[in-house]
Amino acid sequence: MCGISGYIGNKDAYPIIINGLKRLEYRGYDSAGVLMYDGAEINLSKTKGKVSALEEITNKDPKRKEGNIGIGHTRWATHGVPNDLNSHPHLSQSGDLAIVHNGIIENYDTLRKELISRGYTFQSDTDTEVLVNLIEEVKKQEKCKLGKAVQMALTQVTGAYAIAVFDKKKPNEIVVAKLGSPIAIGIGKNNKEFFIASDASPFIEFTKNAVYLEDEEMAIIKLGRDIRVRKIMNDLQIETSIQELQLSLEQIEKGGYDHFMIKEIHEQPKAIIDTYRGRMLADQGIIKMAGVDDNLEKFLNAERIIIVACGTSWHAGLVGEYLFEDMARIPVEVEYASEFRYRNPIISSKDIVIAISQSGETADTLAAIKLAKSKGAFVFGVCNVVGSSIARETDAGAYTHAGPEIGVASTKAFTTQITVLSLIALKLAKAKGTLSNSAFHTYLQKMQLIPSKVEKLLQLDEKVKEIARVYKDAKNCLYLGRGFNFPVALEGALKLKEISYIHAEGYPAAEMKHGPIALIDENMPIFVIATNKGHYDKVVSNIQEIKSRSGKIIAIVTEGDVTVKEIADHVIEIPETEEALTPLLTTIPFQLLSYHIAVMLDKNVDQPRNLAKSVTVE
Ligand code: G6P
Repeated sequence: MCGISGYIGNKDAYPIIINGLKRLEYRGYDSAGVLMYDGAEINLSKTKGKVSALEEITNKDPKRKEGNIGIGHTRWATHGVPNDLNSHPHLSQSGDLAIVHNGIIENYDTLRKELISRGYTFQSDTDTEVLVNLIEEVKKQEKCKLGKAVQMALTQVTGAYAIAVFDKKKPNEIVVAKLGSPIAIGIGKNNKEFFIASDASPFIEFTKNAVYLEDEEMAIIKLGRDIRVRKIMNDLQIETSIQELQLSLEQIEKGGYDHFMIKEIHEQPKAIIDTYRGRMLADQGIIKMAGVDDNLEKFLNAERIIIVACGTSWHAGLVGEYLFEDMARIPVEVEYASEFRYRNPIISSKDIVIAISQSGETADTLAAIKLAKSKGAFVFGVCNVVGSSIARETDAGAYTHAGPEIGVASTKAFTTQITVLSLIALKLAKAKGTLSNSAFHTYLQKMQLIPSKVEKLLQLDEKVKEIARVYKDAKNCLYLGRGFNFPVALEGALKLKEISYIHAEGYPAAEMKHGPIALIDENMPIFVIATNKGHYDKVVSNIQEIKSRSGKIIAIVTEGDVTVKEIADHVIEIPETEEALTPLLTTIPFQLLSYHIAVMLDKNVDQPRNLAKSVTVE
C-alpha cells in the first residue's frame, strides 16, 4: 500500500504534491519521493523515511522544487527493503520516463529477465522499475505514444497497480492506470490543471470534481483537454464519469487535536449519528436501508450469513455474528478474509456474504468478495470510503458515513460498523418477526441515546489517563469479555498492540482458565468488561479468580455497580443500555486507554511502525 500524489497545471506543483503526500502517509511511510519537471529537466528527489525526510532534502536545494508538473509517492515496501534506491519515482533506462506505483507486479521477475536480455539494467529491487522499463521498451518497439505504450505494457502484467507515468518528451501529460489499487483524478477549471492521487484528500481544497478510475481503466491527462478514459485490455474509449466530492478539508485535518486518532475517537458521537441518520426513524419505528430493502427477500431467505473482513473490521464482524444470531436468528460465520479466500470454503447462492472494510481497499477482503461472487453468493458491503473498490465490487451495501479515518488504529470505523450491523440485524429481526415489536422499539430508542452516552464516556478522559499512567510500563496485558463484549476485548487488545507495542491478548472471559490464567501475577494488568447484563455473575467469578492470583483488575462496569467496585483496582463506569448495544460504549475507554499509553510512551500514534491504514497487498 502506497500513496500517489501528482499535479499538472499552472501552479507550483511541489507544495501541492508534498501536502498531498502528507495526507496520504496513512497509506505507507517508509520512504518518499518526488519528481519535478522544470520545463527543461527532470529533478528527482527520494529518500528512505517519511515525507518530512524528503522535505529536508528538497529544502537544501530549491531547484528540486521547481516546475508546474510532478509526481510524488509515499511508500509501504513490498518488493525491496525501504531505502533510497527502492523509493519511487523510478526512472526508465533512458531517463525519459518516470513512474510512481501502488501495488504489486506479480510477474515482475519474468519481465525483468526478459528486459535484462534486451540490455536493460536495474538500479533497484522493485517491481516498479521493471514496469517503467517495460513501458519504455514497448514504446521503442512500437514507436508509439506514451498512452499506447502504457496500455500495451499493462496487458503483459499480472498483479495490482495504480500508476502515474510521465514522459519528459511529452511534458504536458500524465498517464494513469488502475487495477486493484485506487486512483482519483481531480479536475481543475477548464481543464487547466489536474491532480492525481490515491484518494481525493490531496486536492480537496482545489477542486470538487473528480474521476475515479475503475479496474482495468487508464486515462491520459493532458492540459487543456477533457480526460480520456480507456479500457486497458481492448483499448475502447469509455464515457468519463465526473463525481462531485463531499469531502471537506476540515474533515481531513486534525481540527485542534494532537493526533488524528484522538480526533477520531472524539468524533464518534457524531459519526454514529451520521451512520443512522435518515435510516433509523425511531419515532416511526422504521429502519430504512436501501441496500437491504432492495434485497430483503434475499436476506430473509438466506440460509447463512458469512461475514468476511480483516483486523478491526473482523472484530466488528464478530459483534455482527452475535447481533444477527441473537436478534434475527440467522446462522452466521465470521471469517478472516485472508483464510476464507484460500481454504476452498463451501459457499452457495443461498448464502449472503457481508464484507466489512473501512477503507474498502483491503486486498484479502476484495479477493474474498470475488470468490463469493463467483460461487453465486449475494455480496453486501459495509464500507466507509465512498466509491472504494469494495463498495463498487459488492452487489449492494451500506456506507458507515464515519467520515475520513486517518489514524492507522481504527476507532470510529469500528463503532460505525457496529452501528450499521445493529441496524441491519434489527431490520431483519423485525421483518422475520424474531423480535417483538416492543423490543424493536426499545432498541431504536436506546440506539438514539448511544451518541450522548459515548459523549459522556469521552468526558472520562482524565480518569482513563490516570489508569494509563499506572499501567503504561506493563509488558503484557489481558483483555477479557463475554458475549457481545468478547469482540470488544479482542479489539481493546489490538488497539494497545498496534500503537503502544505492548503485548496484549483478548480472550473470552470464561476461556481464561484454559490457559491465560497461568500468566497472571501481580504485574499483569487485566482489563475486564463486566457490564450488568451480559453474564455478569460469571464474569464476577472470573474477576475473583484473577484477584486471588494477585492480578491487577481494571473493570468496565455499568453505572451503579457495587460488587465489582469492591474487588477491582480501578473501575470505569459506562451508562446503562441494552446488552446488544454495549459494545458501542465499552470500546470507548479501551480506545482512550491505548491512545494515552502510546502518547506517554512517545510512540507515533497515527503512524505506528510497520502498519498501514489499509493493506492493498496480500
Ligand atoms: C489494516 C489497518 C487496520 C484495519 C485493517 C482492515 O491492518 O491497520 O486498522 O482494521 O487493515 O482494514 P479495512 O480498511 O478493510 O477495514
